[in-house]
Amino acid sequence: MSNSNLIRPKTRFHGIFVNNMKLNNQFEYISQSPTVAIADRVRALKASGRNIIPLNVGDPDFATPPGVLDAAINAMHAGLTHYGPSRGYRDLRLAIASKLARENSVSPAGAMSYDPESEILVTHGGVHAYYLAMQSILNPGDEVLIPDPSWTTHTNMVKLLRGSVVHVSAPAEENFIPPIAAWKKALTPKTCAIVISYPANPTGVYPSTEYLQQLQEFAGEHDLWVVSDEVYDNLYYKEKPVSAGAFPEVKDRTILVNSLSKTYAMTGWRVGYLAAPQRVIENALKAGQNSITCVAPFVQKAAAFALSDDSVQSDAAEMRSAYARRRENVMQIYREYGESPVQVTPPQGALYFFLDFRALKMPSREICDRILDEAGVGLVPGTAFGEQGKGFARMTIAASDVDVETGFRAILDWAVRK
Ligand SMILES: Cc1ncc(COP(=O)(O)O)c(C=O)c1O
Repeated sequence: MSNSNLIRPKTRFHGIFVNNMKLNNQFEYISQSPTVAIADRVRALKASGRNIIPLNVGDPDFATPPGVLDAAINAMHAGLTHYGPSRGYRDLRLAIASKLARENSVSPAGAMSYDPESEILVTHGGVHAYYLAMQSILNPGDEVLIPDPSWTTHTNMVKLLRGSVVHVSAPAEENFIPPIAAWKKALTPKTCAIVISYPANPTGVYPSTEYLQQLQEFAGEHDLWVVSDEVYDNLYYKEKPVSAGAFPEVKDRTILVNSLSKTYAMTGWRVGYLAAPQRVIENALKAGQNSITCVAPFVQKAAAFALSDDSVQSDAAEMRSAYARRRENVMQIYREYGESPVQVTPPQGALYFFLDFRALKMPSREICDRILDEAGVGLVPGTAFGEQGKGFARMTIAASDVDVETGFRAILDWAVRK
């Protein structure tokens, strides 16, 4: 007997009739990345023949160091074009452990010692490392504290995994870093983790060692995971930022997310890593095996080379000097410009200026749309990163010196004409 009363009428989606199979409801809580939306508009305008300076992207404008290309090509010729180990090749995990010990340790008490056999996992870039971290620790309904503003994926991933995001306000007046009291205020019995990422996208700020120590103490008192996305750890223009893992007795609650994307201009290679307690890595390994199987073996070999070869470290240092030079050039232009409604603070790290247009009293989206249309410069609206980004726009320095300088002048000219 057919159960005809179970037949449901078709519904409309984008104007056409579709069947009624259900979709994952969680996607209703997130929207497409505004950063990608702006990038699409910039591409479309360029394709239509307009001369646009794209200062909206967070992708280094440098080529990947040639030695890294050779390492990948040699690995391909050696036959590493099949499945590889899901945990990552041992030489890569060793290179990651050495990088953490060499670059992120703070002597004497904050030694970063990770066992490559059990506490490190190779991932498909930083975003996948973050996904695996959150997938490994979250249960539906768990609350995760995330600063506002912050990189949108930090929030969206928690929502996709059926966690609940509690934004902790980090206003400009607090240098975009939540006061410790604000974290404490956001705590509930359901709080499971805090997510931080310093140097920060989009603001370029990072906190003091004392602040991180206090945050770790707070996490320790309440049994919270500290998930620290440190993909910009090597891009700093003042004193070196301290890793959230570089404190005594924090290892069992700290999950470090990192990647080679920004430091080595390797965004397209999709390779990163997690450094975390063994029980987290075991979950993350299962999640990785069942989602990507492994990172491409020749990419892993290239990554091991990038992390350990001396000349690649020099290439990375040169890229950092170029970003530092562009940052200084922007400040020089700003100082020489005279009266302007735009407030500009030099970033401490990462690849972005977070320009303050609040004096114009216009929504961030409108500011960026108008700067794109009227000045031909692509920026990302501050509100793409949260409520506290209202009136701000993100401008990258991951573009040529000429583009950064010309684009920045065009922005200042637009703002005074306004
Ligand atoms: C804070 C932060 N984490 C992670 C990523 C992504 O890194 P990956 O390219 O290694 O996935 C980005 C990219 O912009 C980022 O800003």
